Amino acid sequence: GDYIPFYGKNQAGIITPMQDFISMAAFNLTTSSLADVRKLFQSWTLASARMTAGQPVDDEIENPHLPPVDTGESIGLAPMKLTITFGLGASFFDDRFGLKSKKPAPLVDMPRFNSDEINPDWSEGDIVVQVCADDPQVAFHAMRNLARIARGKAVLHWMQEGFQRTASADPSGSTPRNLLGFKDGTNNPIASEPKLADEIVWANSAESPSWMTGGTYMAMRRIRMRIEVWDRSSLEDQEATFGRHRHSGAPIGKSGEFDDLELGRKDSTGKPLIAPNSHVALAHMDGKVKILRRSYSYSNGMDVKTGQINAGLLFICFNRDPRKQFIPMQQKLASADRLNEYITHVGSGLYACLPGAREGGYIGDTLF
Ligand code: HEM
Repeated sequence: GDYIPFYGKNQAGIITPMQDFISMAAFNLTTSSLADVRKLFQSWTLASARMTAGQPVDDEIENPHLPPVDTGESIGLAPMKLTITFGLGASFFDDRFGLKSKKPAPLVDMPRFNSDEINPDWSEGDIVVQVCADDPQVAFHAMRNLARIARGKAVLHWMQEGFQRTASADPSGSTPRNLLGFKDGTNNPIASEPKLADEIVWANSAESPSWMTGGTYMAMRRIRMRIEVWDRSSLEDQEATFGRHRHSGAPIGKSGEFDDLELGRKDSTGKPLIAPNSHVALAHMDGKVKILRRSYSYSNGMDVKTGQINAGLLFICFNRDPRKQFIPMQQKLASADRLNEYITHVGSGLYACLPGAREGGYIGDTLF
């Protein structure tokens, strides 16, 4: 069906197959009362459970003298696989709420990486909310109403929308392409396999406090693409940059998208077929380190000053310990990836995504 339940052991929107659209935002708390935070998450939970089921945020009592409780733009619309996923940034665990001792060890401050051009206006935040749906208006409506419910307790810090090709544009459901024209997501762990998800995604008591059981950590990077430069580089150079063929998505020298990379292969002159500084050669991490990617393309119009298209990748990944997964991987990519010629990381965030809520409970109830 087109309805994904909000309640469950884990939050939806993590190992859930990707929807077509995303609306993502971070909030900063303006209250310093833990009771207020609790109330906020209780209200957000109730509203989220209703919206993901295709209902307005609350029962409408039509009172001509009051603003409507729901903003209305999703009236009559189907749920469209709406998911709403909440996470906490490291700043949530500063002195304000007395929760310092509960901060999970894997929720470190994101380190600086080589050639980062991070804008703090597009980064971090006390709370992150990832809204995904197969309809952009359904996604927007959910984020807007969550922001509205937060008034007086939290304010928007950054917001970014994203998309991929819609399911109706590709009924076969093949791997979607990013804005550089390449299939993106080929060698992503199979999230539906519980053993893999436990190993790669879900917080483990080995590193995480027990209140994080069923949660995970999200790394977000807003990555601007130098589209105009890319468009002037040859197909051969583009393929060498990723280490895969553009049309098929196959590793260089192979024909099937899902064929093994086999990084050791050499051409007749003894040169590696997949360049050691290509994106996949480095991101592969010798097969030892894995993350679950769930990224969307974004387009923010254009830069009036330069006339260039302002677009890129809203990179999102989930992992059970970013200190051992996302961070070392990004360190490696930042230092050597041939793709760096065409991209710039301009926004950044690391968040502890809370466990799922039981019906009657609320998101965050294992912590506060
Ligand atoms: C693979 C694109 C950033 C991690 C790939 C592939 C493409 C791609 C086309 C090959 C197909 C696939 O297996 O999905 C991009 C673009 C990026 C970007 C355009 C930035 C704009 C990142 C970042 C990370 C990352 C920041 C993590 C730090 C990976 C991993 C793989 C991969 C783990 C699979 C490697 C393997 O085959 O084992 N990416 N990527 N990517 N990427 Fe990226």
